[in-house]
Amino acid sequence: MTAQTMEELVSLCKRRGFLFQSNDIYGGIKGLYDYGPMGVEFKNNLKQAWWKSMVYERDDTEGLDASILSSPVVLKHSGHEDTFTDPLVDCRACKSRWRADQLFENNKCPNCKSEDLTEPRPFNLMFKTAIGPVDDGSSFAYLRPETCQQIFTNFKNILDSTSRTVPFGIAQMGKAFRNEITPRNFIFRVREFEQMELEFFVKPGTDDEWHEYWINKRIEWWVNQGIKKENLKKIEVEKNELAHYSKRTVDINYVFPHGEEELEGVANRTDFDLGSHTKNQKDFKITSEVMKNSSSTTKLAVQDLEEKKWYIPYVIEPSAGVDRGVLALLNEAYREENVDKDSKRILLSLKPHLSPIKAAVIPLKKNNEELVNLSKEIKSNLQKLGLGRVVLENSGNIGKNYRRHDEIGTPICLTVDFETLEDKSVTVRDRDTMKQERVSIENLSEYYKKYFN
Ligand code: GAP
Repeated sequence: MTAQTMEELVSLCKRRGFLFQSNDIYGGIKGLYDYGPMGVEFKNNLKQAWWKSMVYERDDTEGLDASILSSPVVLKHSGHEDTFTDPLVDCRACKSRWRADQLFENNKCPNCKSEDLTEPRPFNLMFKTAIGPVDDGSSFAYLRPETCQQIFTNFKNILDSTSRTVPFGIAQMGKAFRNEITPRNFIFRVREFEQMELEFFVKPGTDDEWHEYWINKRIEWWVNQGIKKENLKKIEVEKNELAHYSKRTVDINYVFPHGEEELEGVANRTDFDLGSHTKNQKDFKITSEVMKNSSSTTKLAVQDLEEKKWYIPYVIEPSAGVDRGVLALLNEAYREENVDKDSKRILLSLKPHLSPIKAAVIPLKKNNEELVNLSKEIKSNLQKLGLGRVVLENSGNIGKNYRRHDEIGTPICLTVDFETLEDKSVTVRDRDTMKQERVSIENLSEYYKKYFN
């Protein structure tokens, strides 16, 4: 089962500290959200899982964490200054503004139904900010609209500082910003979000094969994070809808509560980016329509040792949205169950590696010094194992604690009761089955490590 509506997820996220509207106490700003105590743990766990599979578990990738403020010249040559636009239409009657593709009803304003609309005009989605103390428009930067451009501009730095040869990839996670005209559907379309992007550089001619490889690899990864395969769809982007850099793109769509939409895109960006940012473009046989006349000081090319000539690699790019991943996984994990005939519970059946809290240690009585001290010791020992956050719940209300931890997806709760003082064992309760078992404190570390590994 998943959530039935987006409202169920929004409500759980606010109630349990996953997500809050940003600037809430001043009325909020549309398209911006803050991750609360549970949200930040969950999001970090998701990003860590991605990093682990893209960097640590591979022998052909490197990581990067580049600046967010981006030079206009980079975004000129990437094509963003000219093409990163949405067509906008203004309603002359009610002064509202719409994306042209959102005028679903025969070119009428969705707000007041007037037909007195302007012609569509391009609107650039990038945020601009002044660099330096004088804001006279002469020195500015953009907040990056995608994380990958700095991967391309660092291509040579990374080649020179590692011993990589093609095929290899560079991974980066981090913030991206888009001035979306109509942010909507909770954290699905927002103005400040995070991406997890890999740029995988390959020899031209091997690109189609690598593209297929990455499409399948990425679907497999989402399934390993807990998304049912039948809720993921492979969608071939129509030729006339491809981004200016793409030879072929396959979207991995997910059935969100508001409908099926893109979770991740896997594009074959050809030699467009490295070609556009390269010095002396005419020296290379570039196959795509690159941005011409690059003022770059560096050639972003590699040498073919067999053919003894330089070439510009092609790029395969799996690009996933962290926030869309968070939304999809919360939705997938959401369950409502009857506990008995009078009560029901909500639980997040998250994979343990993604759960914000790995275990809660609960003394049966909050004012009992012996129980509380022993609980603190157990908590501290489990925390030292370094598998994620462990908490002490010292409210003395076991039932309430179980409900709360079911709702935030804590895989196990450990109760320290009076018997514990005698038999040196705790009660371990499993979130999904609600089954309880006694585990001796001596064996707890082993039990815990086994559970999470
Ligand atoms: N470098 C390629 C690129 O940025 P994209 O399809 O525009 O491609 C990649 O974005 C991913 O980033 C999307 O699949 C989506 O998950 C996420 N994303 C894009 N715009 C977003 C937005 N406004 N809010 C949340 N996530 C977004």
